[in-house]
Amino acid sequence: MEVQSVLLLLNILVQCTSSNVIVYPSPHGIQPSDKFHVSISQNGHHHNLFVYISKSDHRHTQFPRAESGRSMSWASFAFTGAPVTVEVHAPKDFHNCVIKPTSYDYKCKRTGPKTATFIVTHNTRMMSVEFDYDYGLGASDIVDKLFVFADPPEAKVPSPQDKNVLYYGPGIHDLHKEIVVDEDVREVYIAPGAYIKGGFQLPHGRVKFHGRGIISNENFVRHDARIGEAAVDFQRSSHNTFDGVTIVDPSQFYYMSNGDDNVVRNARLVAAWMYNSDGIGIGDRGLVEDSFIIADDANIKIHKSHMTVRRCVLWQMQNGGVFQTGWETAYVRNVSISDMDVIHVDYCKFKGPCTHFSSNDAVLDTFGNTRHFDISDMRFEDIRIEGSCPRIVNFVMDPAAKGTISNIKVINMSVESQPTNDPIHNAIAGTSIGGRITNWQFVNLKIGGHCISNPSQGDFRVDLHTTKDIIFSCHQDPIIG
Ligand SMILES: *[C@@H]1O[C@H](CO)[C@@H](O)[C@H](O)[C@H]1NC(C)=O
Ligand SMILES: *[C@@H]1O[C@H](CO)[C@@H](O)[C@H](O)[C@H]1NC(C)=O
Repeated sequence: MEVQSVLLLLNILVQCTSSNVIVYPSPHGIQPSDKFHVSISQNGHHHNLFVYISKSDHRHTQFPRAESGRSMSWASFAFTGAPVTVEVHAPKDFHNCVIKPTSYDYKCKRTGPKTATFIVTHNTRMMSVEFDYDYGLGASDIVDKLFVFADPPEAKVPSPQDKNVLYYGPGIHDLHKEIVVDEDVREVYIAPGAYIKGGFQLPHGRVKFHGRGIISNENFVRHDARIGEAAVDFQRSSHNTFDGVTIVDPSQFYYMSNGDDNVVRNARLVAAWMYNSDGIGIGDRGLVEDSFIIADDANIKIHKSHMTVRRCVLWQMQNGGVFQTGWETAYVRNVSISDMDVIHVDYCKFKGPCTHFSSNDAVLDTFGNTRHFDISDMRFEDIRIEGSCPRIVNFVMDPAAKGTISNIKVINMSVESQPTNDPIHNAIAGTSIGGRITNWQFVNLKIGGHCISNPSQGDFRVDLHTTKDIIFSCHQDPIIG
């Protein structure tokens, strides 16, 4: 055998016999989930994971629209090499369970009483494990949610002694507020097992903010002045990276950066209990990838230009646009959003008959006090929306708005099902004072498996007086300019 083949064989042997799993330490003083237990195994090596939990009751007291009696549990680990088997112990027995996003094609199996098992073949997977006793169909959402995050291993871990690193090791760190990070700090490191109560403002730029630990706003009231606008707020600074950290139960937004060239990667944003829990707002040339976001308001804000968002798993709670344009700013160019899984859209939950909701509730949405629009060149590609989606598109300009929204391409969007909740429809409309929406192509928009080739098939109300060239087409191989 040639040397290379021998090396390859050795490599395969090592992968098959050793464990390439990284289990994070559990922080002393944090109560584990009382709903779920999660363990993993790879090549016969077995590990229990610490399962975190956030509950809604304290938020319900502050903000009654936050439903009470809800919980979100989550567990994280990292691995490379051979597949990992995940075993979940649920609080109740069940017949069936599912792993979302279904595009991962991971089958959930009942392997014993209250026990579910599934196999994770690759890292950078963000999964929701769902049980038939709590599928969240009809008027309730899922009462007790569970997420399992299979992370890629960390790249470079800094030294705690490095003077340019703000380093948080395992354990609870109560900051009592949002701290302002000094100008000489180049890295903020939140180690696996670190649990920060507080937030961070980073006004200086060029900071690598990373780790596998957690930042929680659980001790702060809604819109708490000690936190400010976002749990992690890069303000107007540029060239920052946010990688691998989990943000929990924000008192307002999770993450903001209004400067240029910022990156969000492997972010885990969980437990949005209240309206104004927006996901990601990022500046010009922003990049957001491989992140998991539960938002109870705008999930991804499209307020700036040259933005790329890809491979994220999104969950929309009762309020807000999944992909949101509008509000004050409306100069946007060259946006690319692709390969996204929207695993739940919960606008109709707790509404009885679902006959009204806010104008900002749609997967593709424009809303707010915008008086002049100048938006063009947005491309949405391979967007998979699971479950029942109450509204796909609501691009209706405020009657006082002028300007244009043009050149939008939506290619290969699939919607599992769309209820007919009169009087709620998909809508595209400009204004009588000159607001215009033009040149919007839907190519291979599928609802319930059927490709939509005209507006009425998809329950779209397109205003003919204020729009032009809104086209629905169905092709095997779309040829798009
Ligand atoms: C669009 O944005 C991407 C990502 O920032 C950038 O690489 C590309 O050059 C931009 N294209 C145009 C035409 O501005
Ligand atoms: C859209 O889906 C079709 C088939 O499902 C595929 O051939 C095509 O490459 C996809 N196009 C884009 C732009 O993603």
